[in-house]
Amino acid sequence: MKKIAIAGSTGYLGKFLVEHLIESKTEGIALARNTKKLAAFNSENLQKVKAEFTQPESLNGLLNGVDTVISTVGITRQKDGLTYMDVDYQANKNLLTEARNAGVRKFIYVSVLNGQNMRQLKICDAKERFVDELKNSGIEYTIIRPSGFFSDMKDFLDMAKGGRVYLFGNGNKKLNPIHGADLAKVCFSAINTTDKEIEVGGPEILSHNEIAEMALRASGKKIKIVHLPDFLQKASIGFVRTFFSQKTYGPIEFFLTALDFDMVAPQFGTHKLNDFFSVSVQ
Ligand SMILES: NC(=O)c1ccc[n+]([C@@H]2O[C@H](COP(=O)([O-])OP(=O)(O)OC[C@H]3O[C@@H](n4cnc5c(N)ncnc54)[C@H](OP(=O)(O)O)[C@@H]3O)[C@@H](O)[C@H]2O)c1
Repeated sequence: MKKIAIAGSTGYLGKFLVEHLIESKTEGIALARNTKKLAAFNSENLQKVKAEFTQPESLNGLLNGVDTVISTVGITRQKDGLTYMDVDYQANKNLLTEARNAGVRKFIYVSVLNGQNMRQLKICDAKERFVDELKNSGIEYTIIRPSGFFSDMKDFLDMAKGGRVYLFGNGNKKLNPIHGADLAKVCFSAINTTDKEIEVGGPEILSHNEIAEMALRASGKKIKIVHLPDFLQKASIGFVRTFFSQKTYGPIEFFLTALDFDMVAPQFGTHKLNDFFSVSVQ
C-alpha cells in the first residue's frame, strides 16, 4: 500500500489530513516538530515522527519508502521569530530535497488561491517561490489552491462576539471558505491525479456581509455591521507595513489585501459555515 507523509500535521488542515489518513486506513507518517500535539491520534497505520523542517539534517532518511508527501507547512499565527522565507519557502524546500533524495514519487503542496497574483505580499512571494521550485524539481506534483479556511472565518466570529463586525467597503466581495475535512479529501484525491494545480473552495459562496450576519446571529447578537471606507483599508496596509515587523504585519497585510477582491474557487464539500460558527461559539 502507498505510504503517505503529512508535513504540517499539527495545524488546522494537517489534523484533518491525519484523521482522513487514519479513517481511510492508509499507511502514513505524521511529521511534526512537536509530536505531543498529535496525542489524540492513535492508529496502527499511523507513525508519528519528530522533524524540524527548518533543519534539513533532521529530515535525513525520514521519507524513505514514502510514495507521496502532502505539505501544509507554513506560518499562519506562529510567533517563532521566523520569516515566511524561512518556513513557507525554505522549510518546504528542505522537505522537497529530502523527498527527492528518498525517491518519493509525488509532492502535494497547499498554497493559496490567487497566490501567484499577490506576489507583492511577503507570504505569497515565499509560497510561490516554493511553487516555482516544485515545478522545476522533476518530481510529480499537485499544487492545491484553496480559498479561505473555516478556521480563518473565526476572525468574523471574534468581532461578532463584541457585538459589531467591521468590514471595509460595501461588504459585497465574495468568497467560498472551505472546511478542513472537505479540503483533506481534495488533498488525498490529488495523490492519484495528473492535475498540476487544483483551485478549490467550499460549497457556499458568501459575501463578507453574509458571513458577518451569520457570525452575529451565531453569537446571539443583533445585526450591526460597520462599513469602513475603502481608503482606510489601503491606509491600514501602509500603516501595518510601516509600524510592525514583517512577522506581525504579514497575516494582517494578507487579510487586508484579500478583502479587496472576490476569492471564489470551484465549489466542493458539504460543510456549512453556519454549523462551524454554531459549534465554535459554544
Ligand atoms: N488559513 C487559510 O485561510 C488559508 C488559505 C489558503 C491557504 N492556506 C495555507 O495552508 C497552509 C495550512 O494552513 P493551516 O491553517 O492548517 O495552518 P496552521 O494551522 O498554522 O498549520 C501550519 C503547520 O505548519 C507548521 N509550522 C509552522 N511553522 C513551522 C516551523 N517553523 N517549523 C516547523 N513547522 C512549522 C505548524 O507546526 P506547529 O503546530 O508546530 O506550529 C503546523 O503544523 C498554510 O501554509 C496556509 O498559509 C491557508
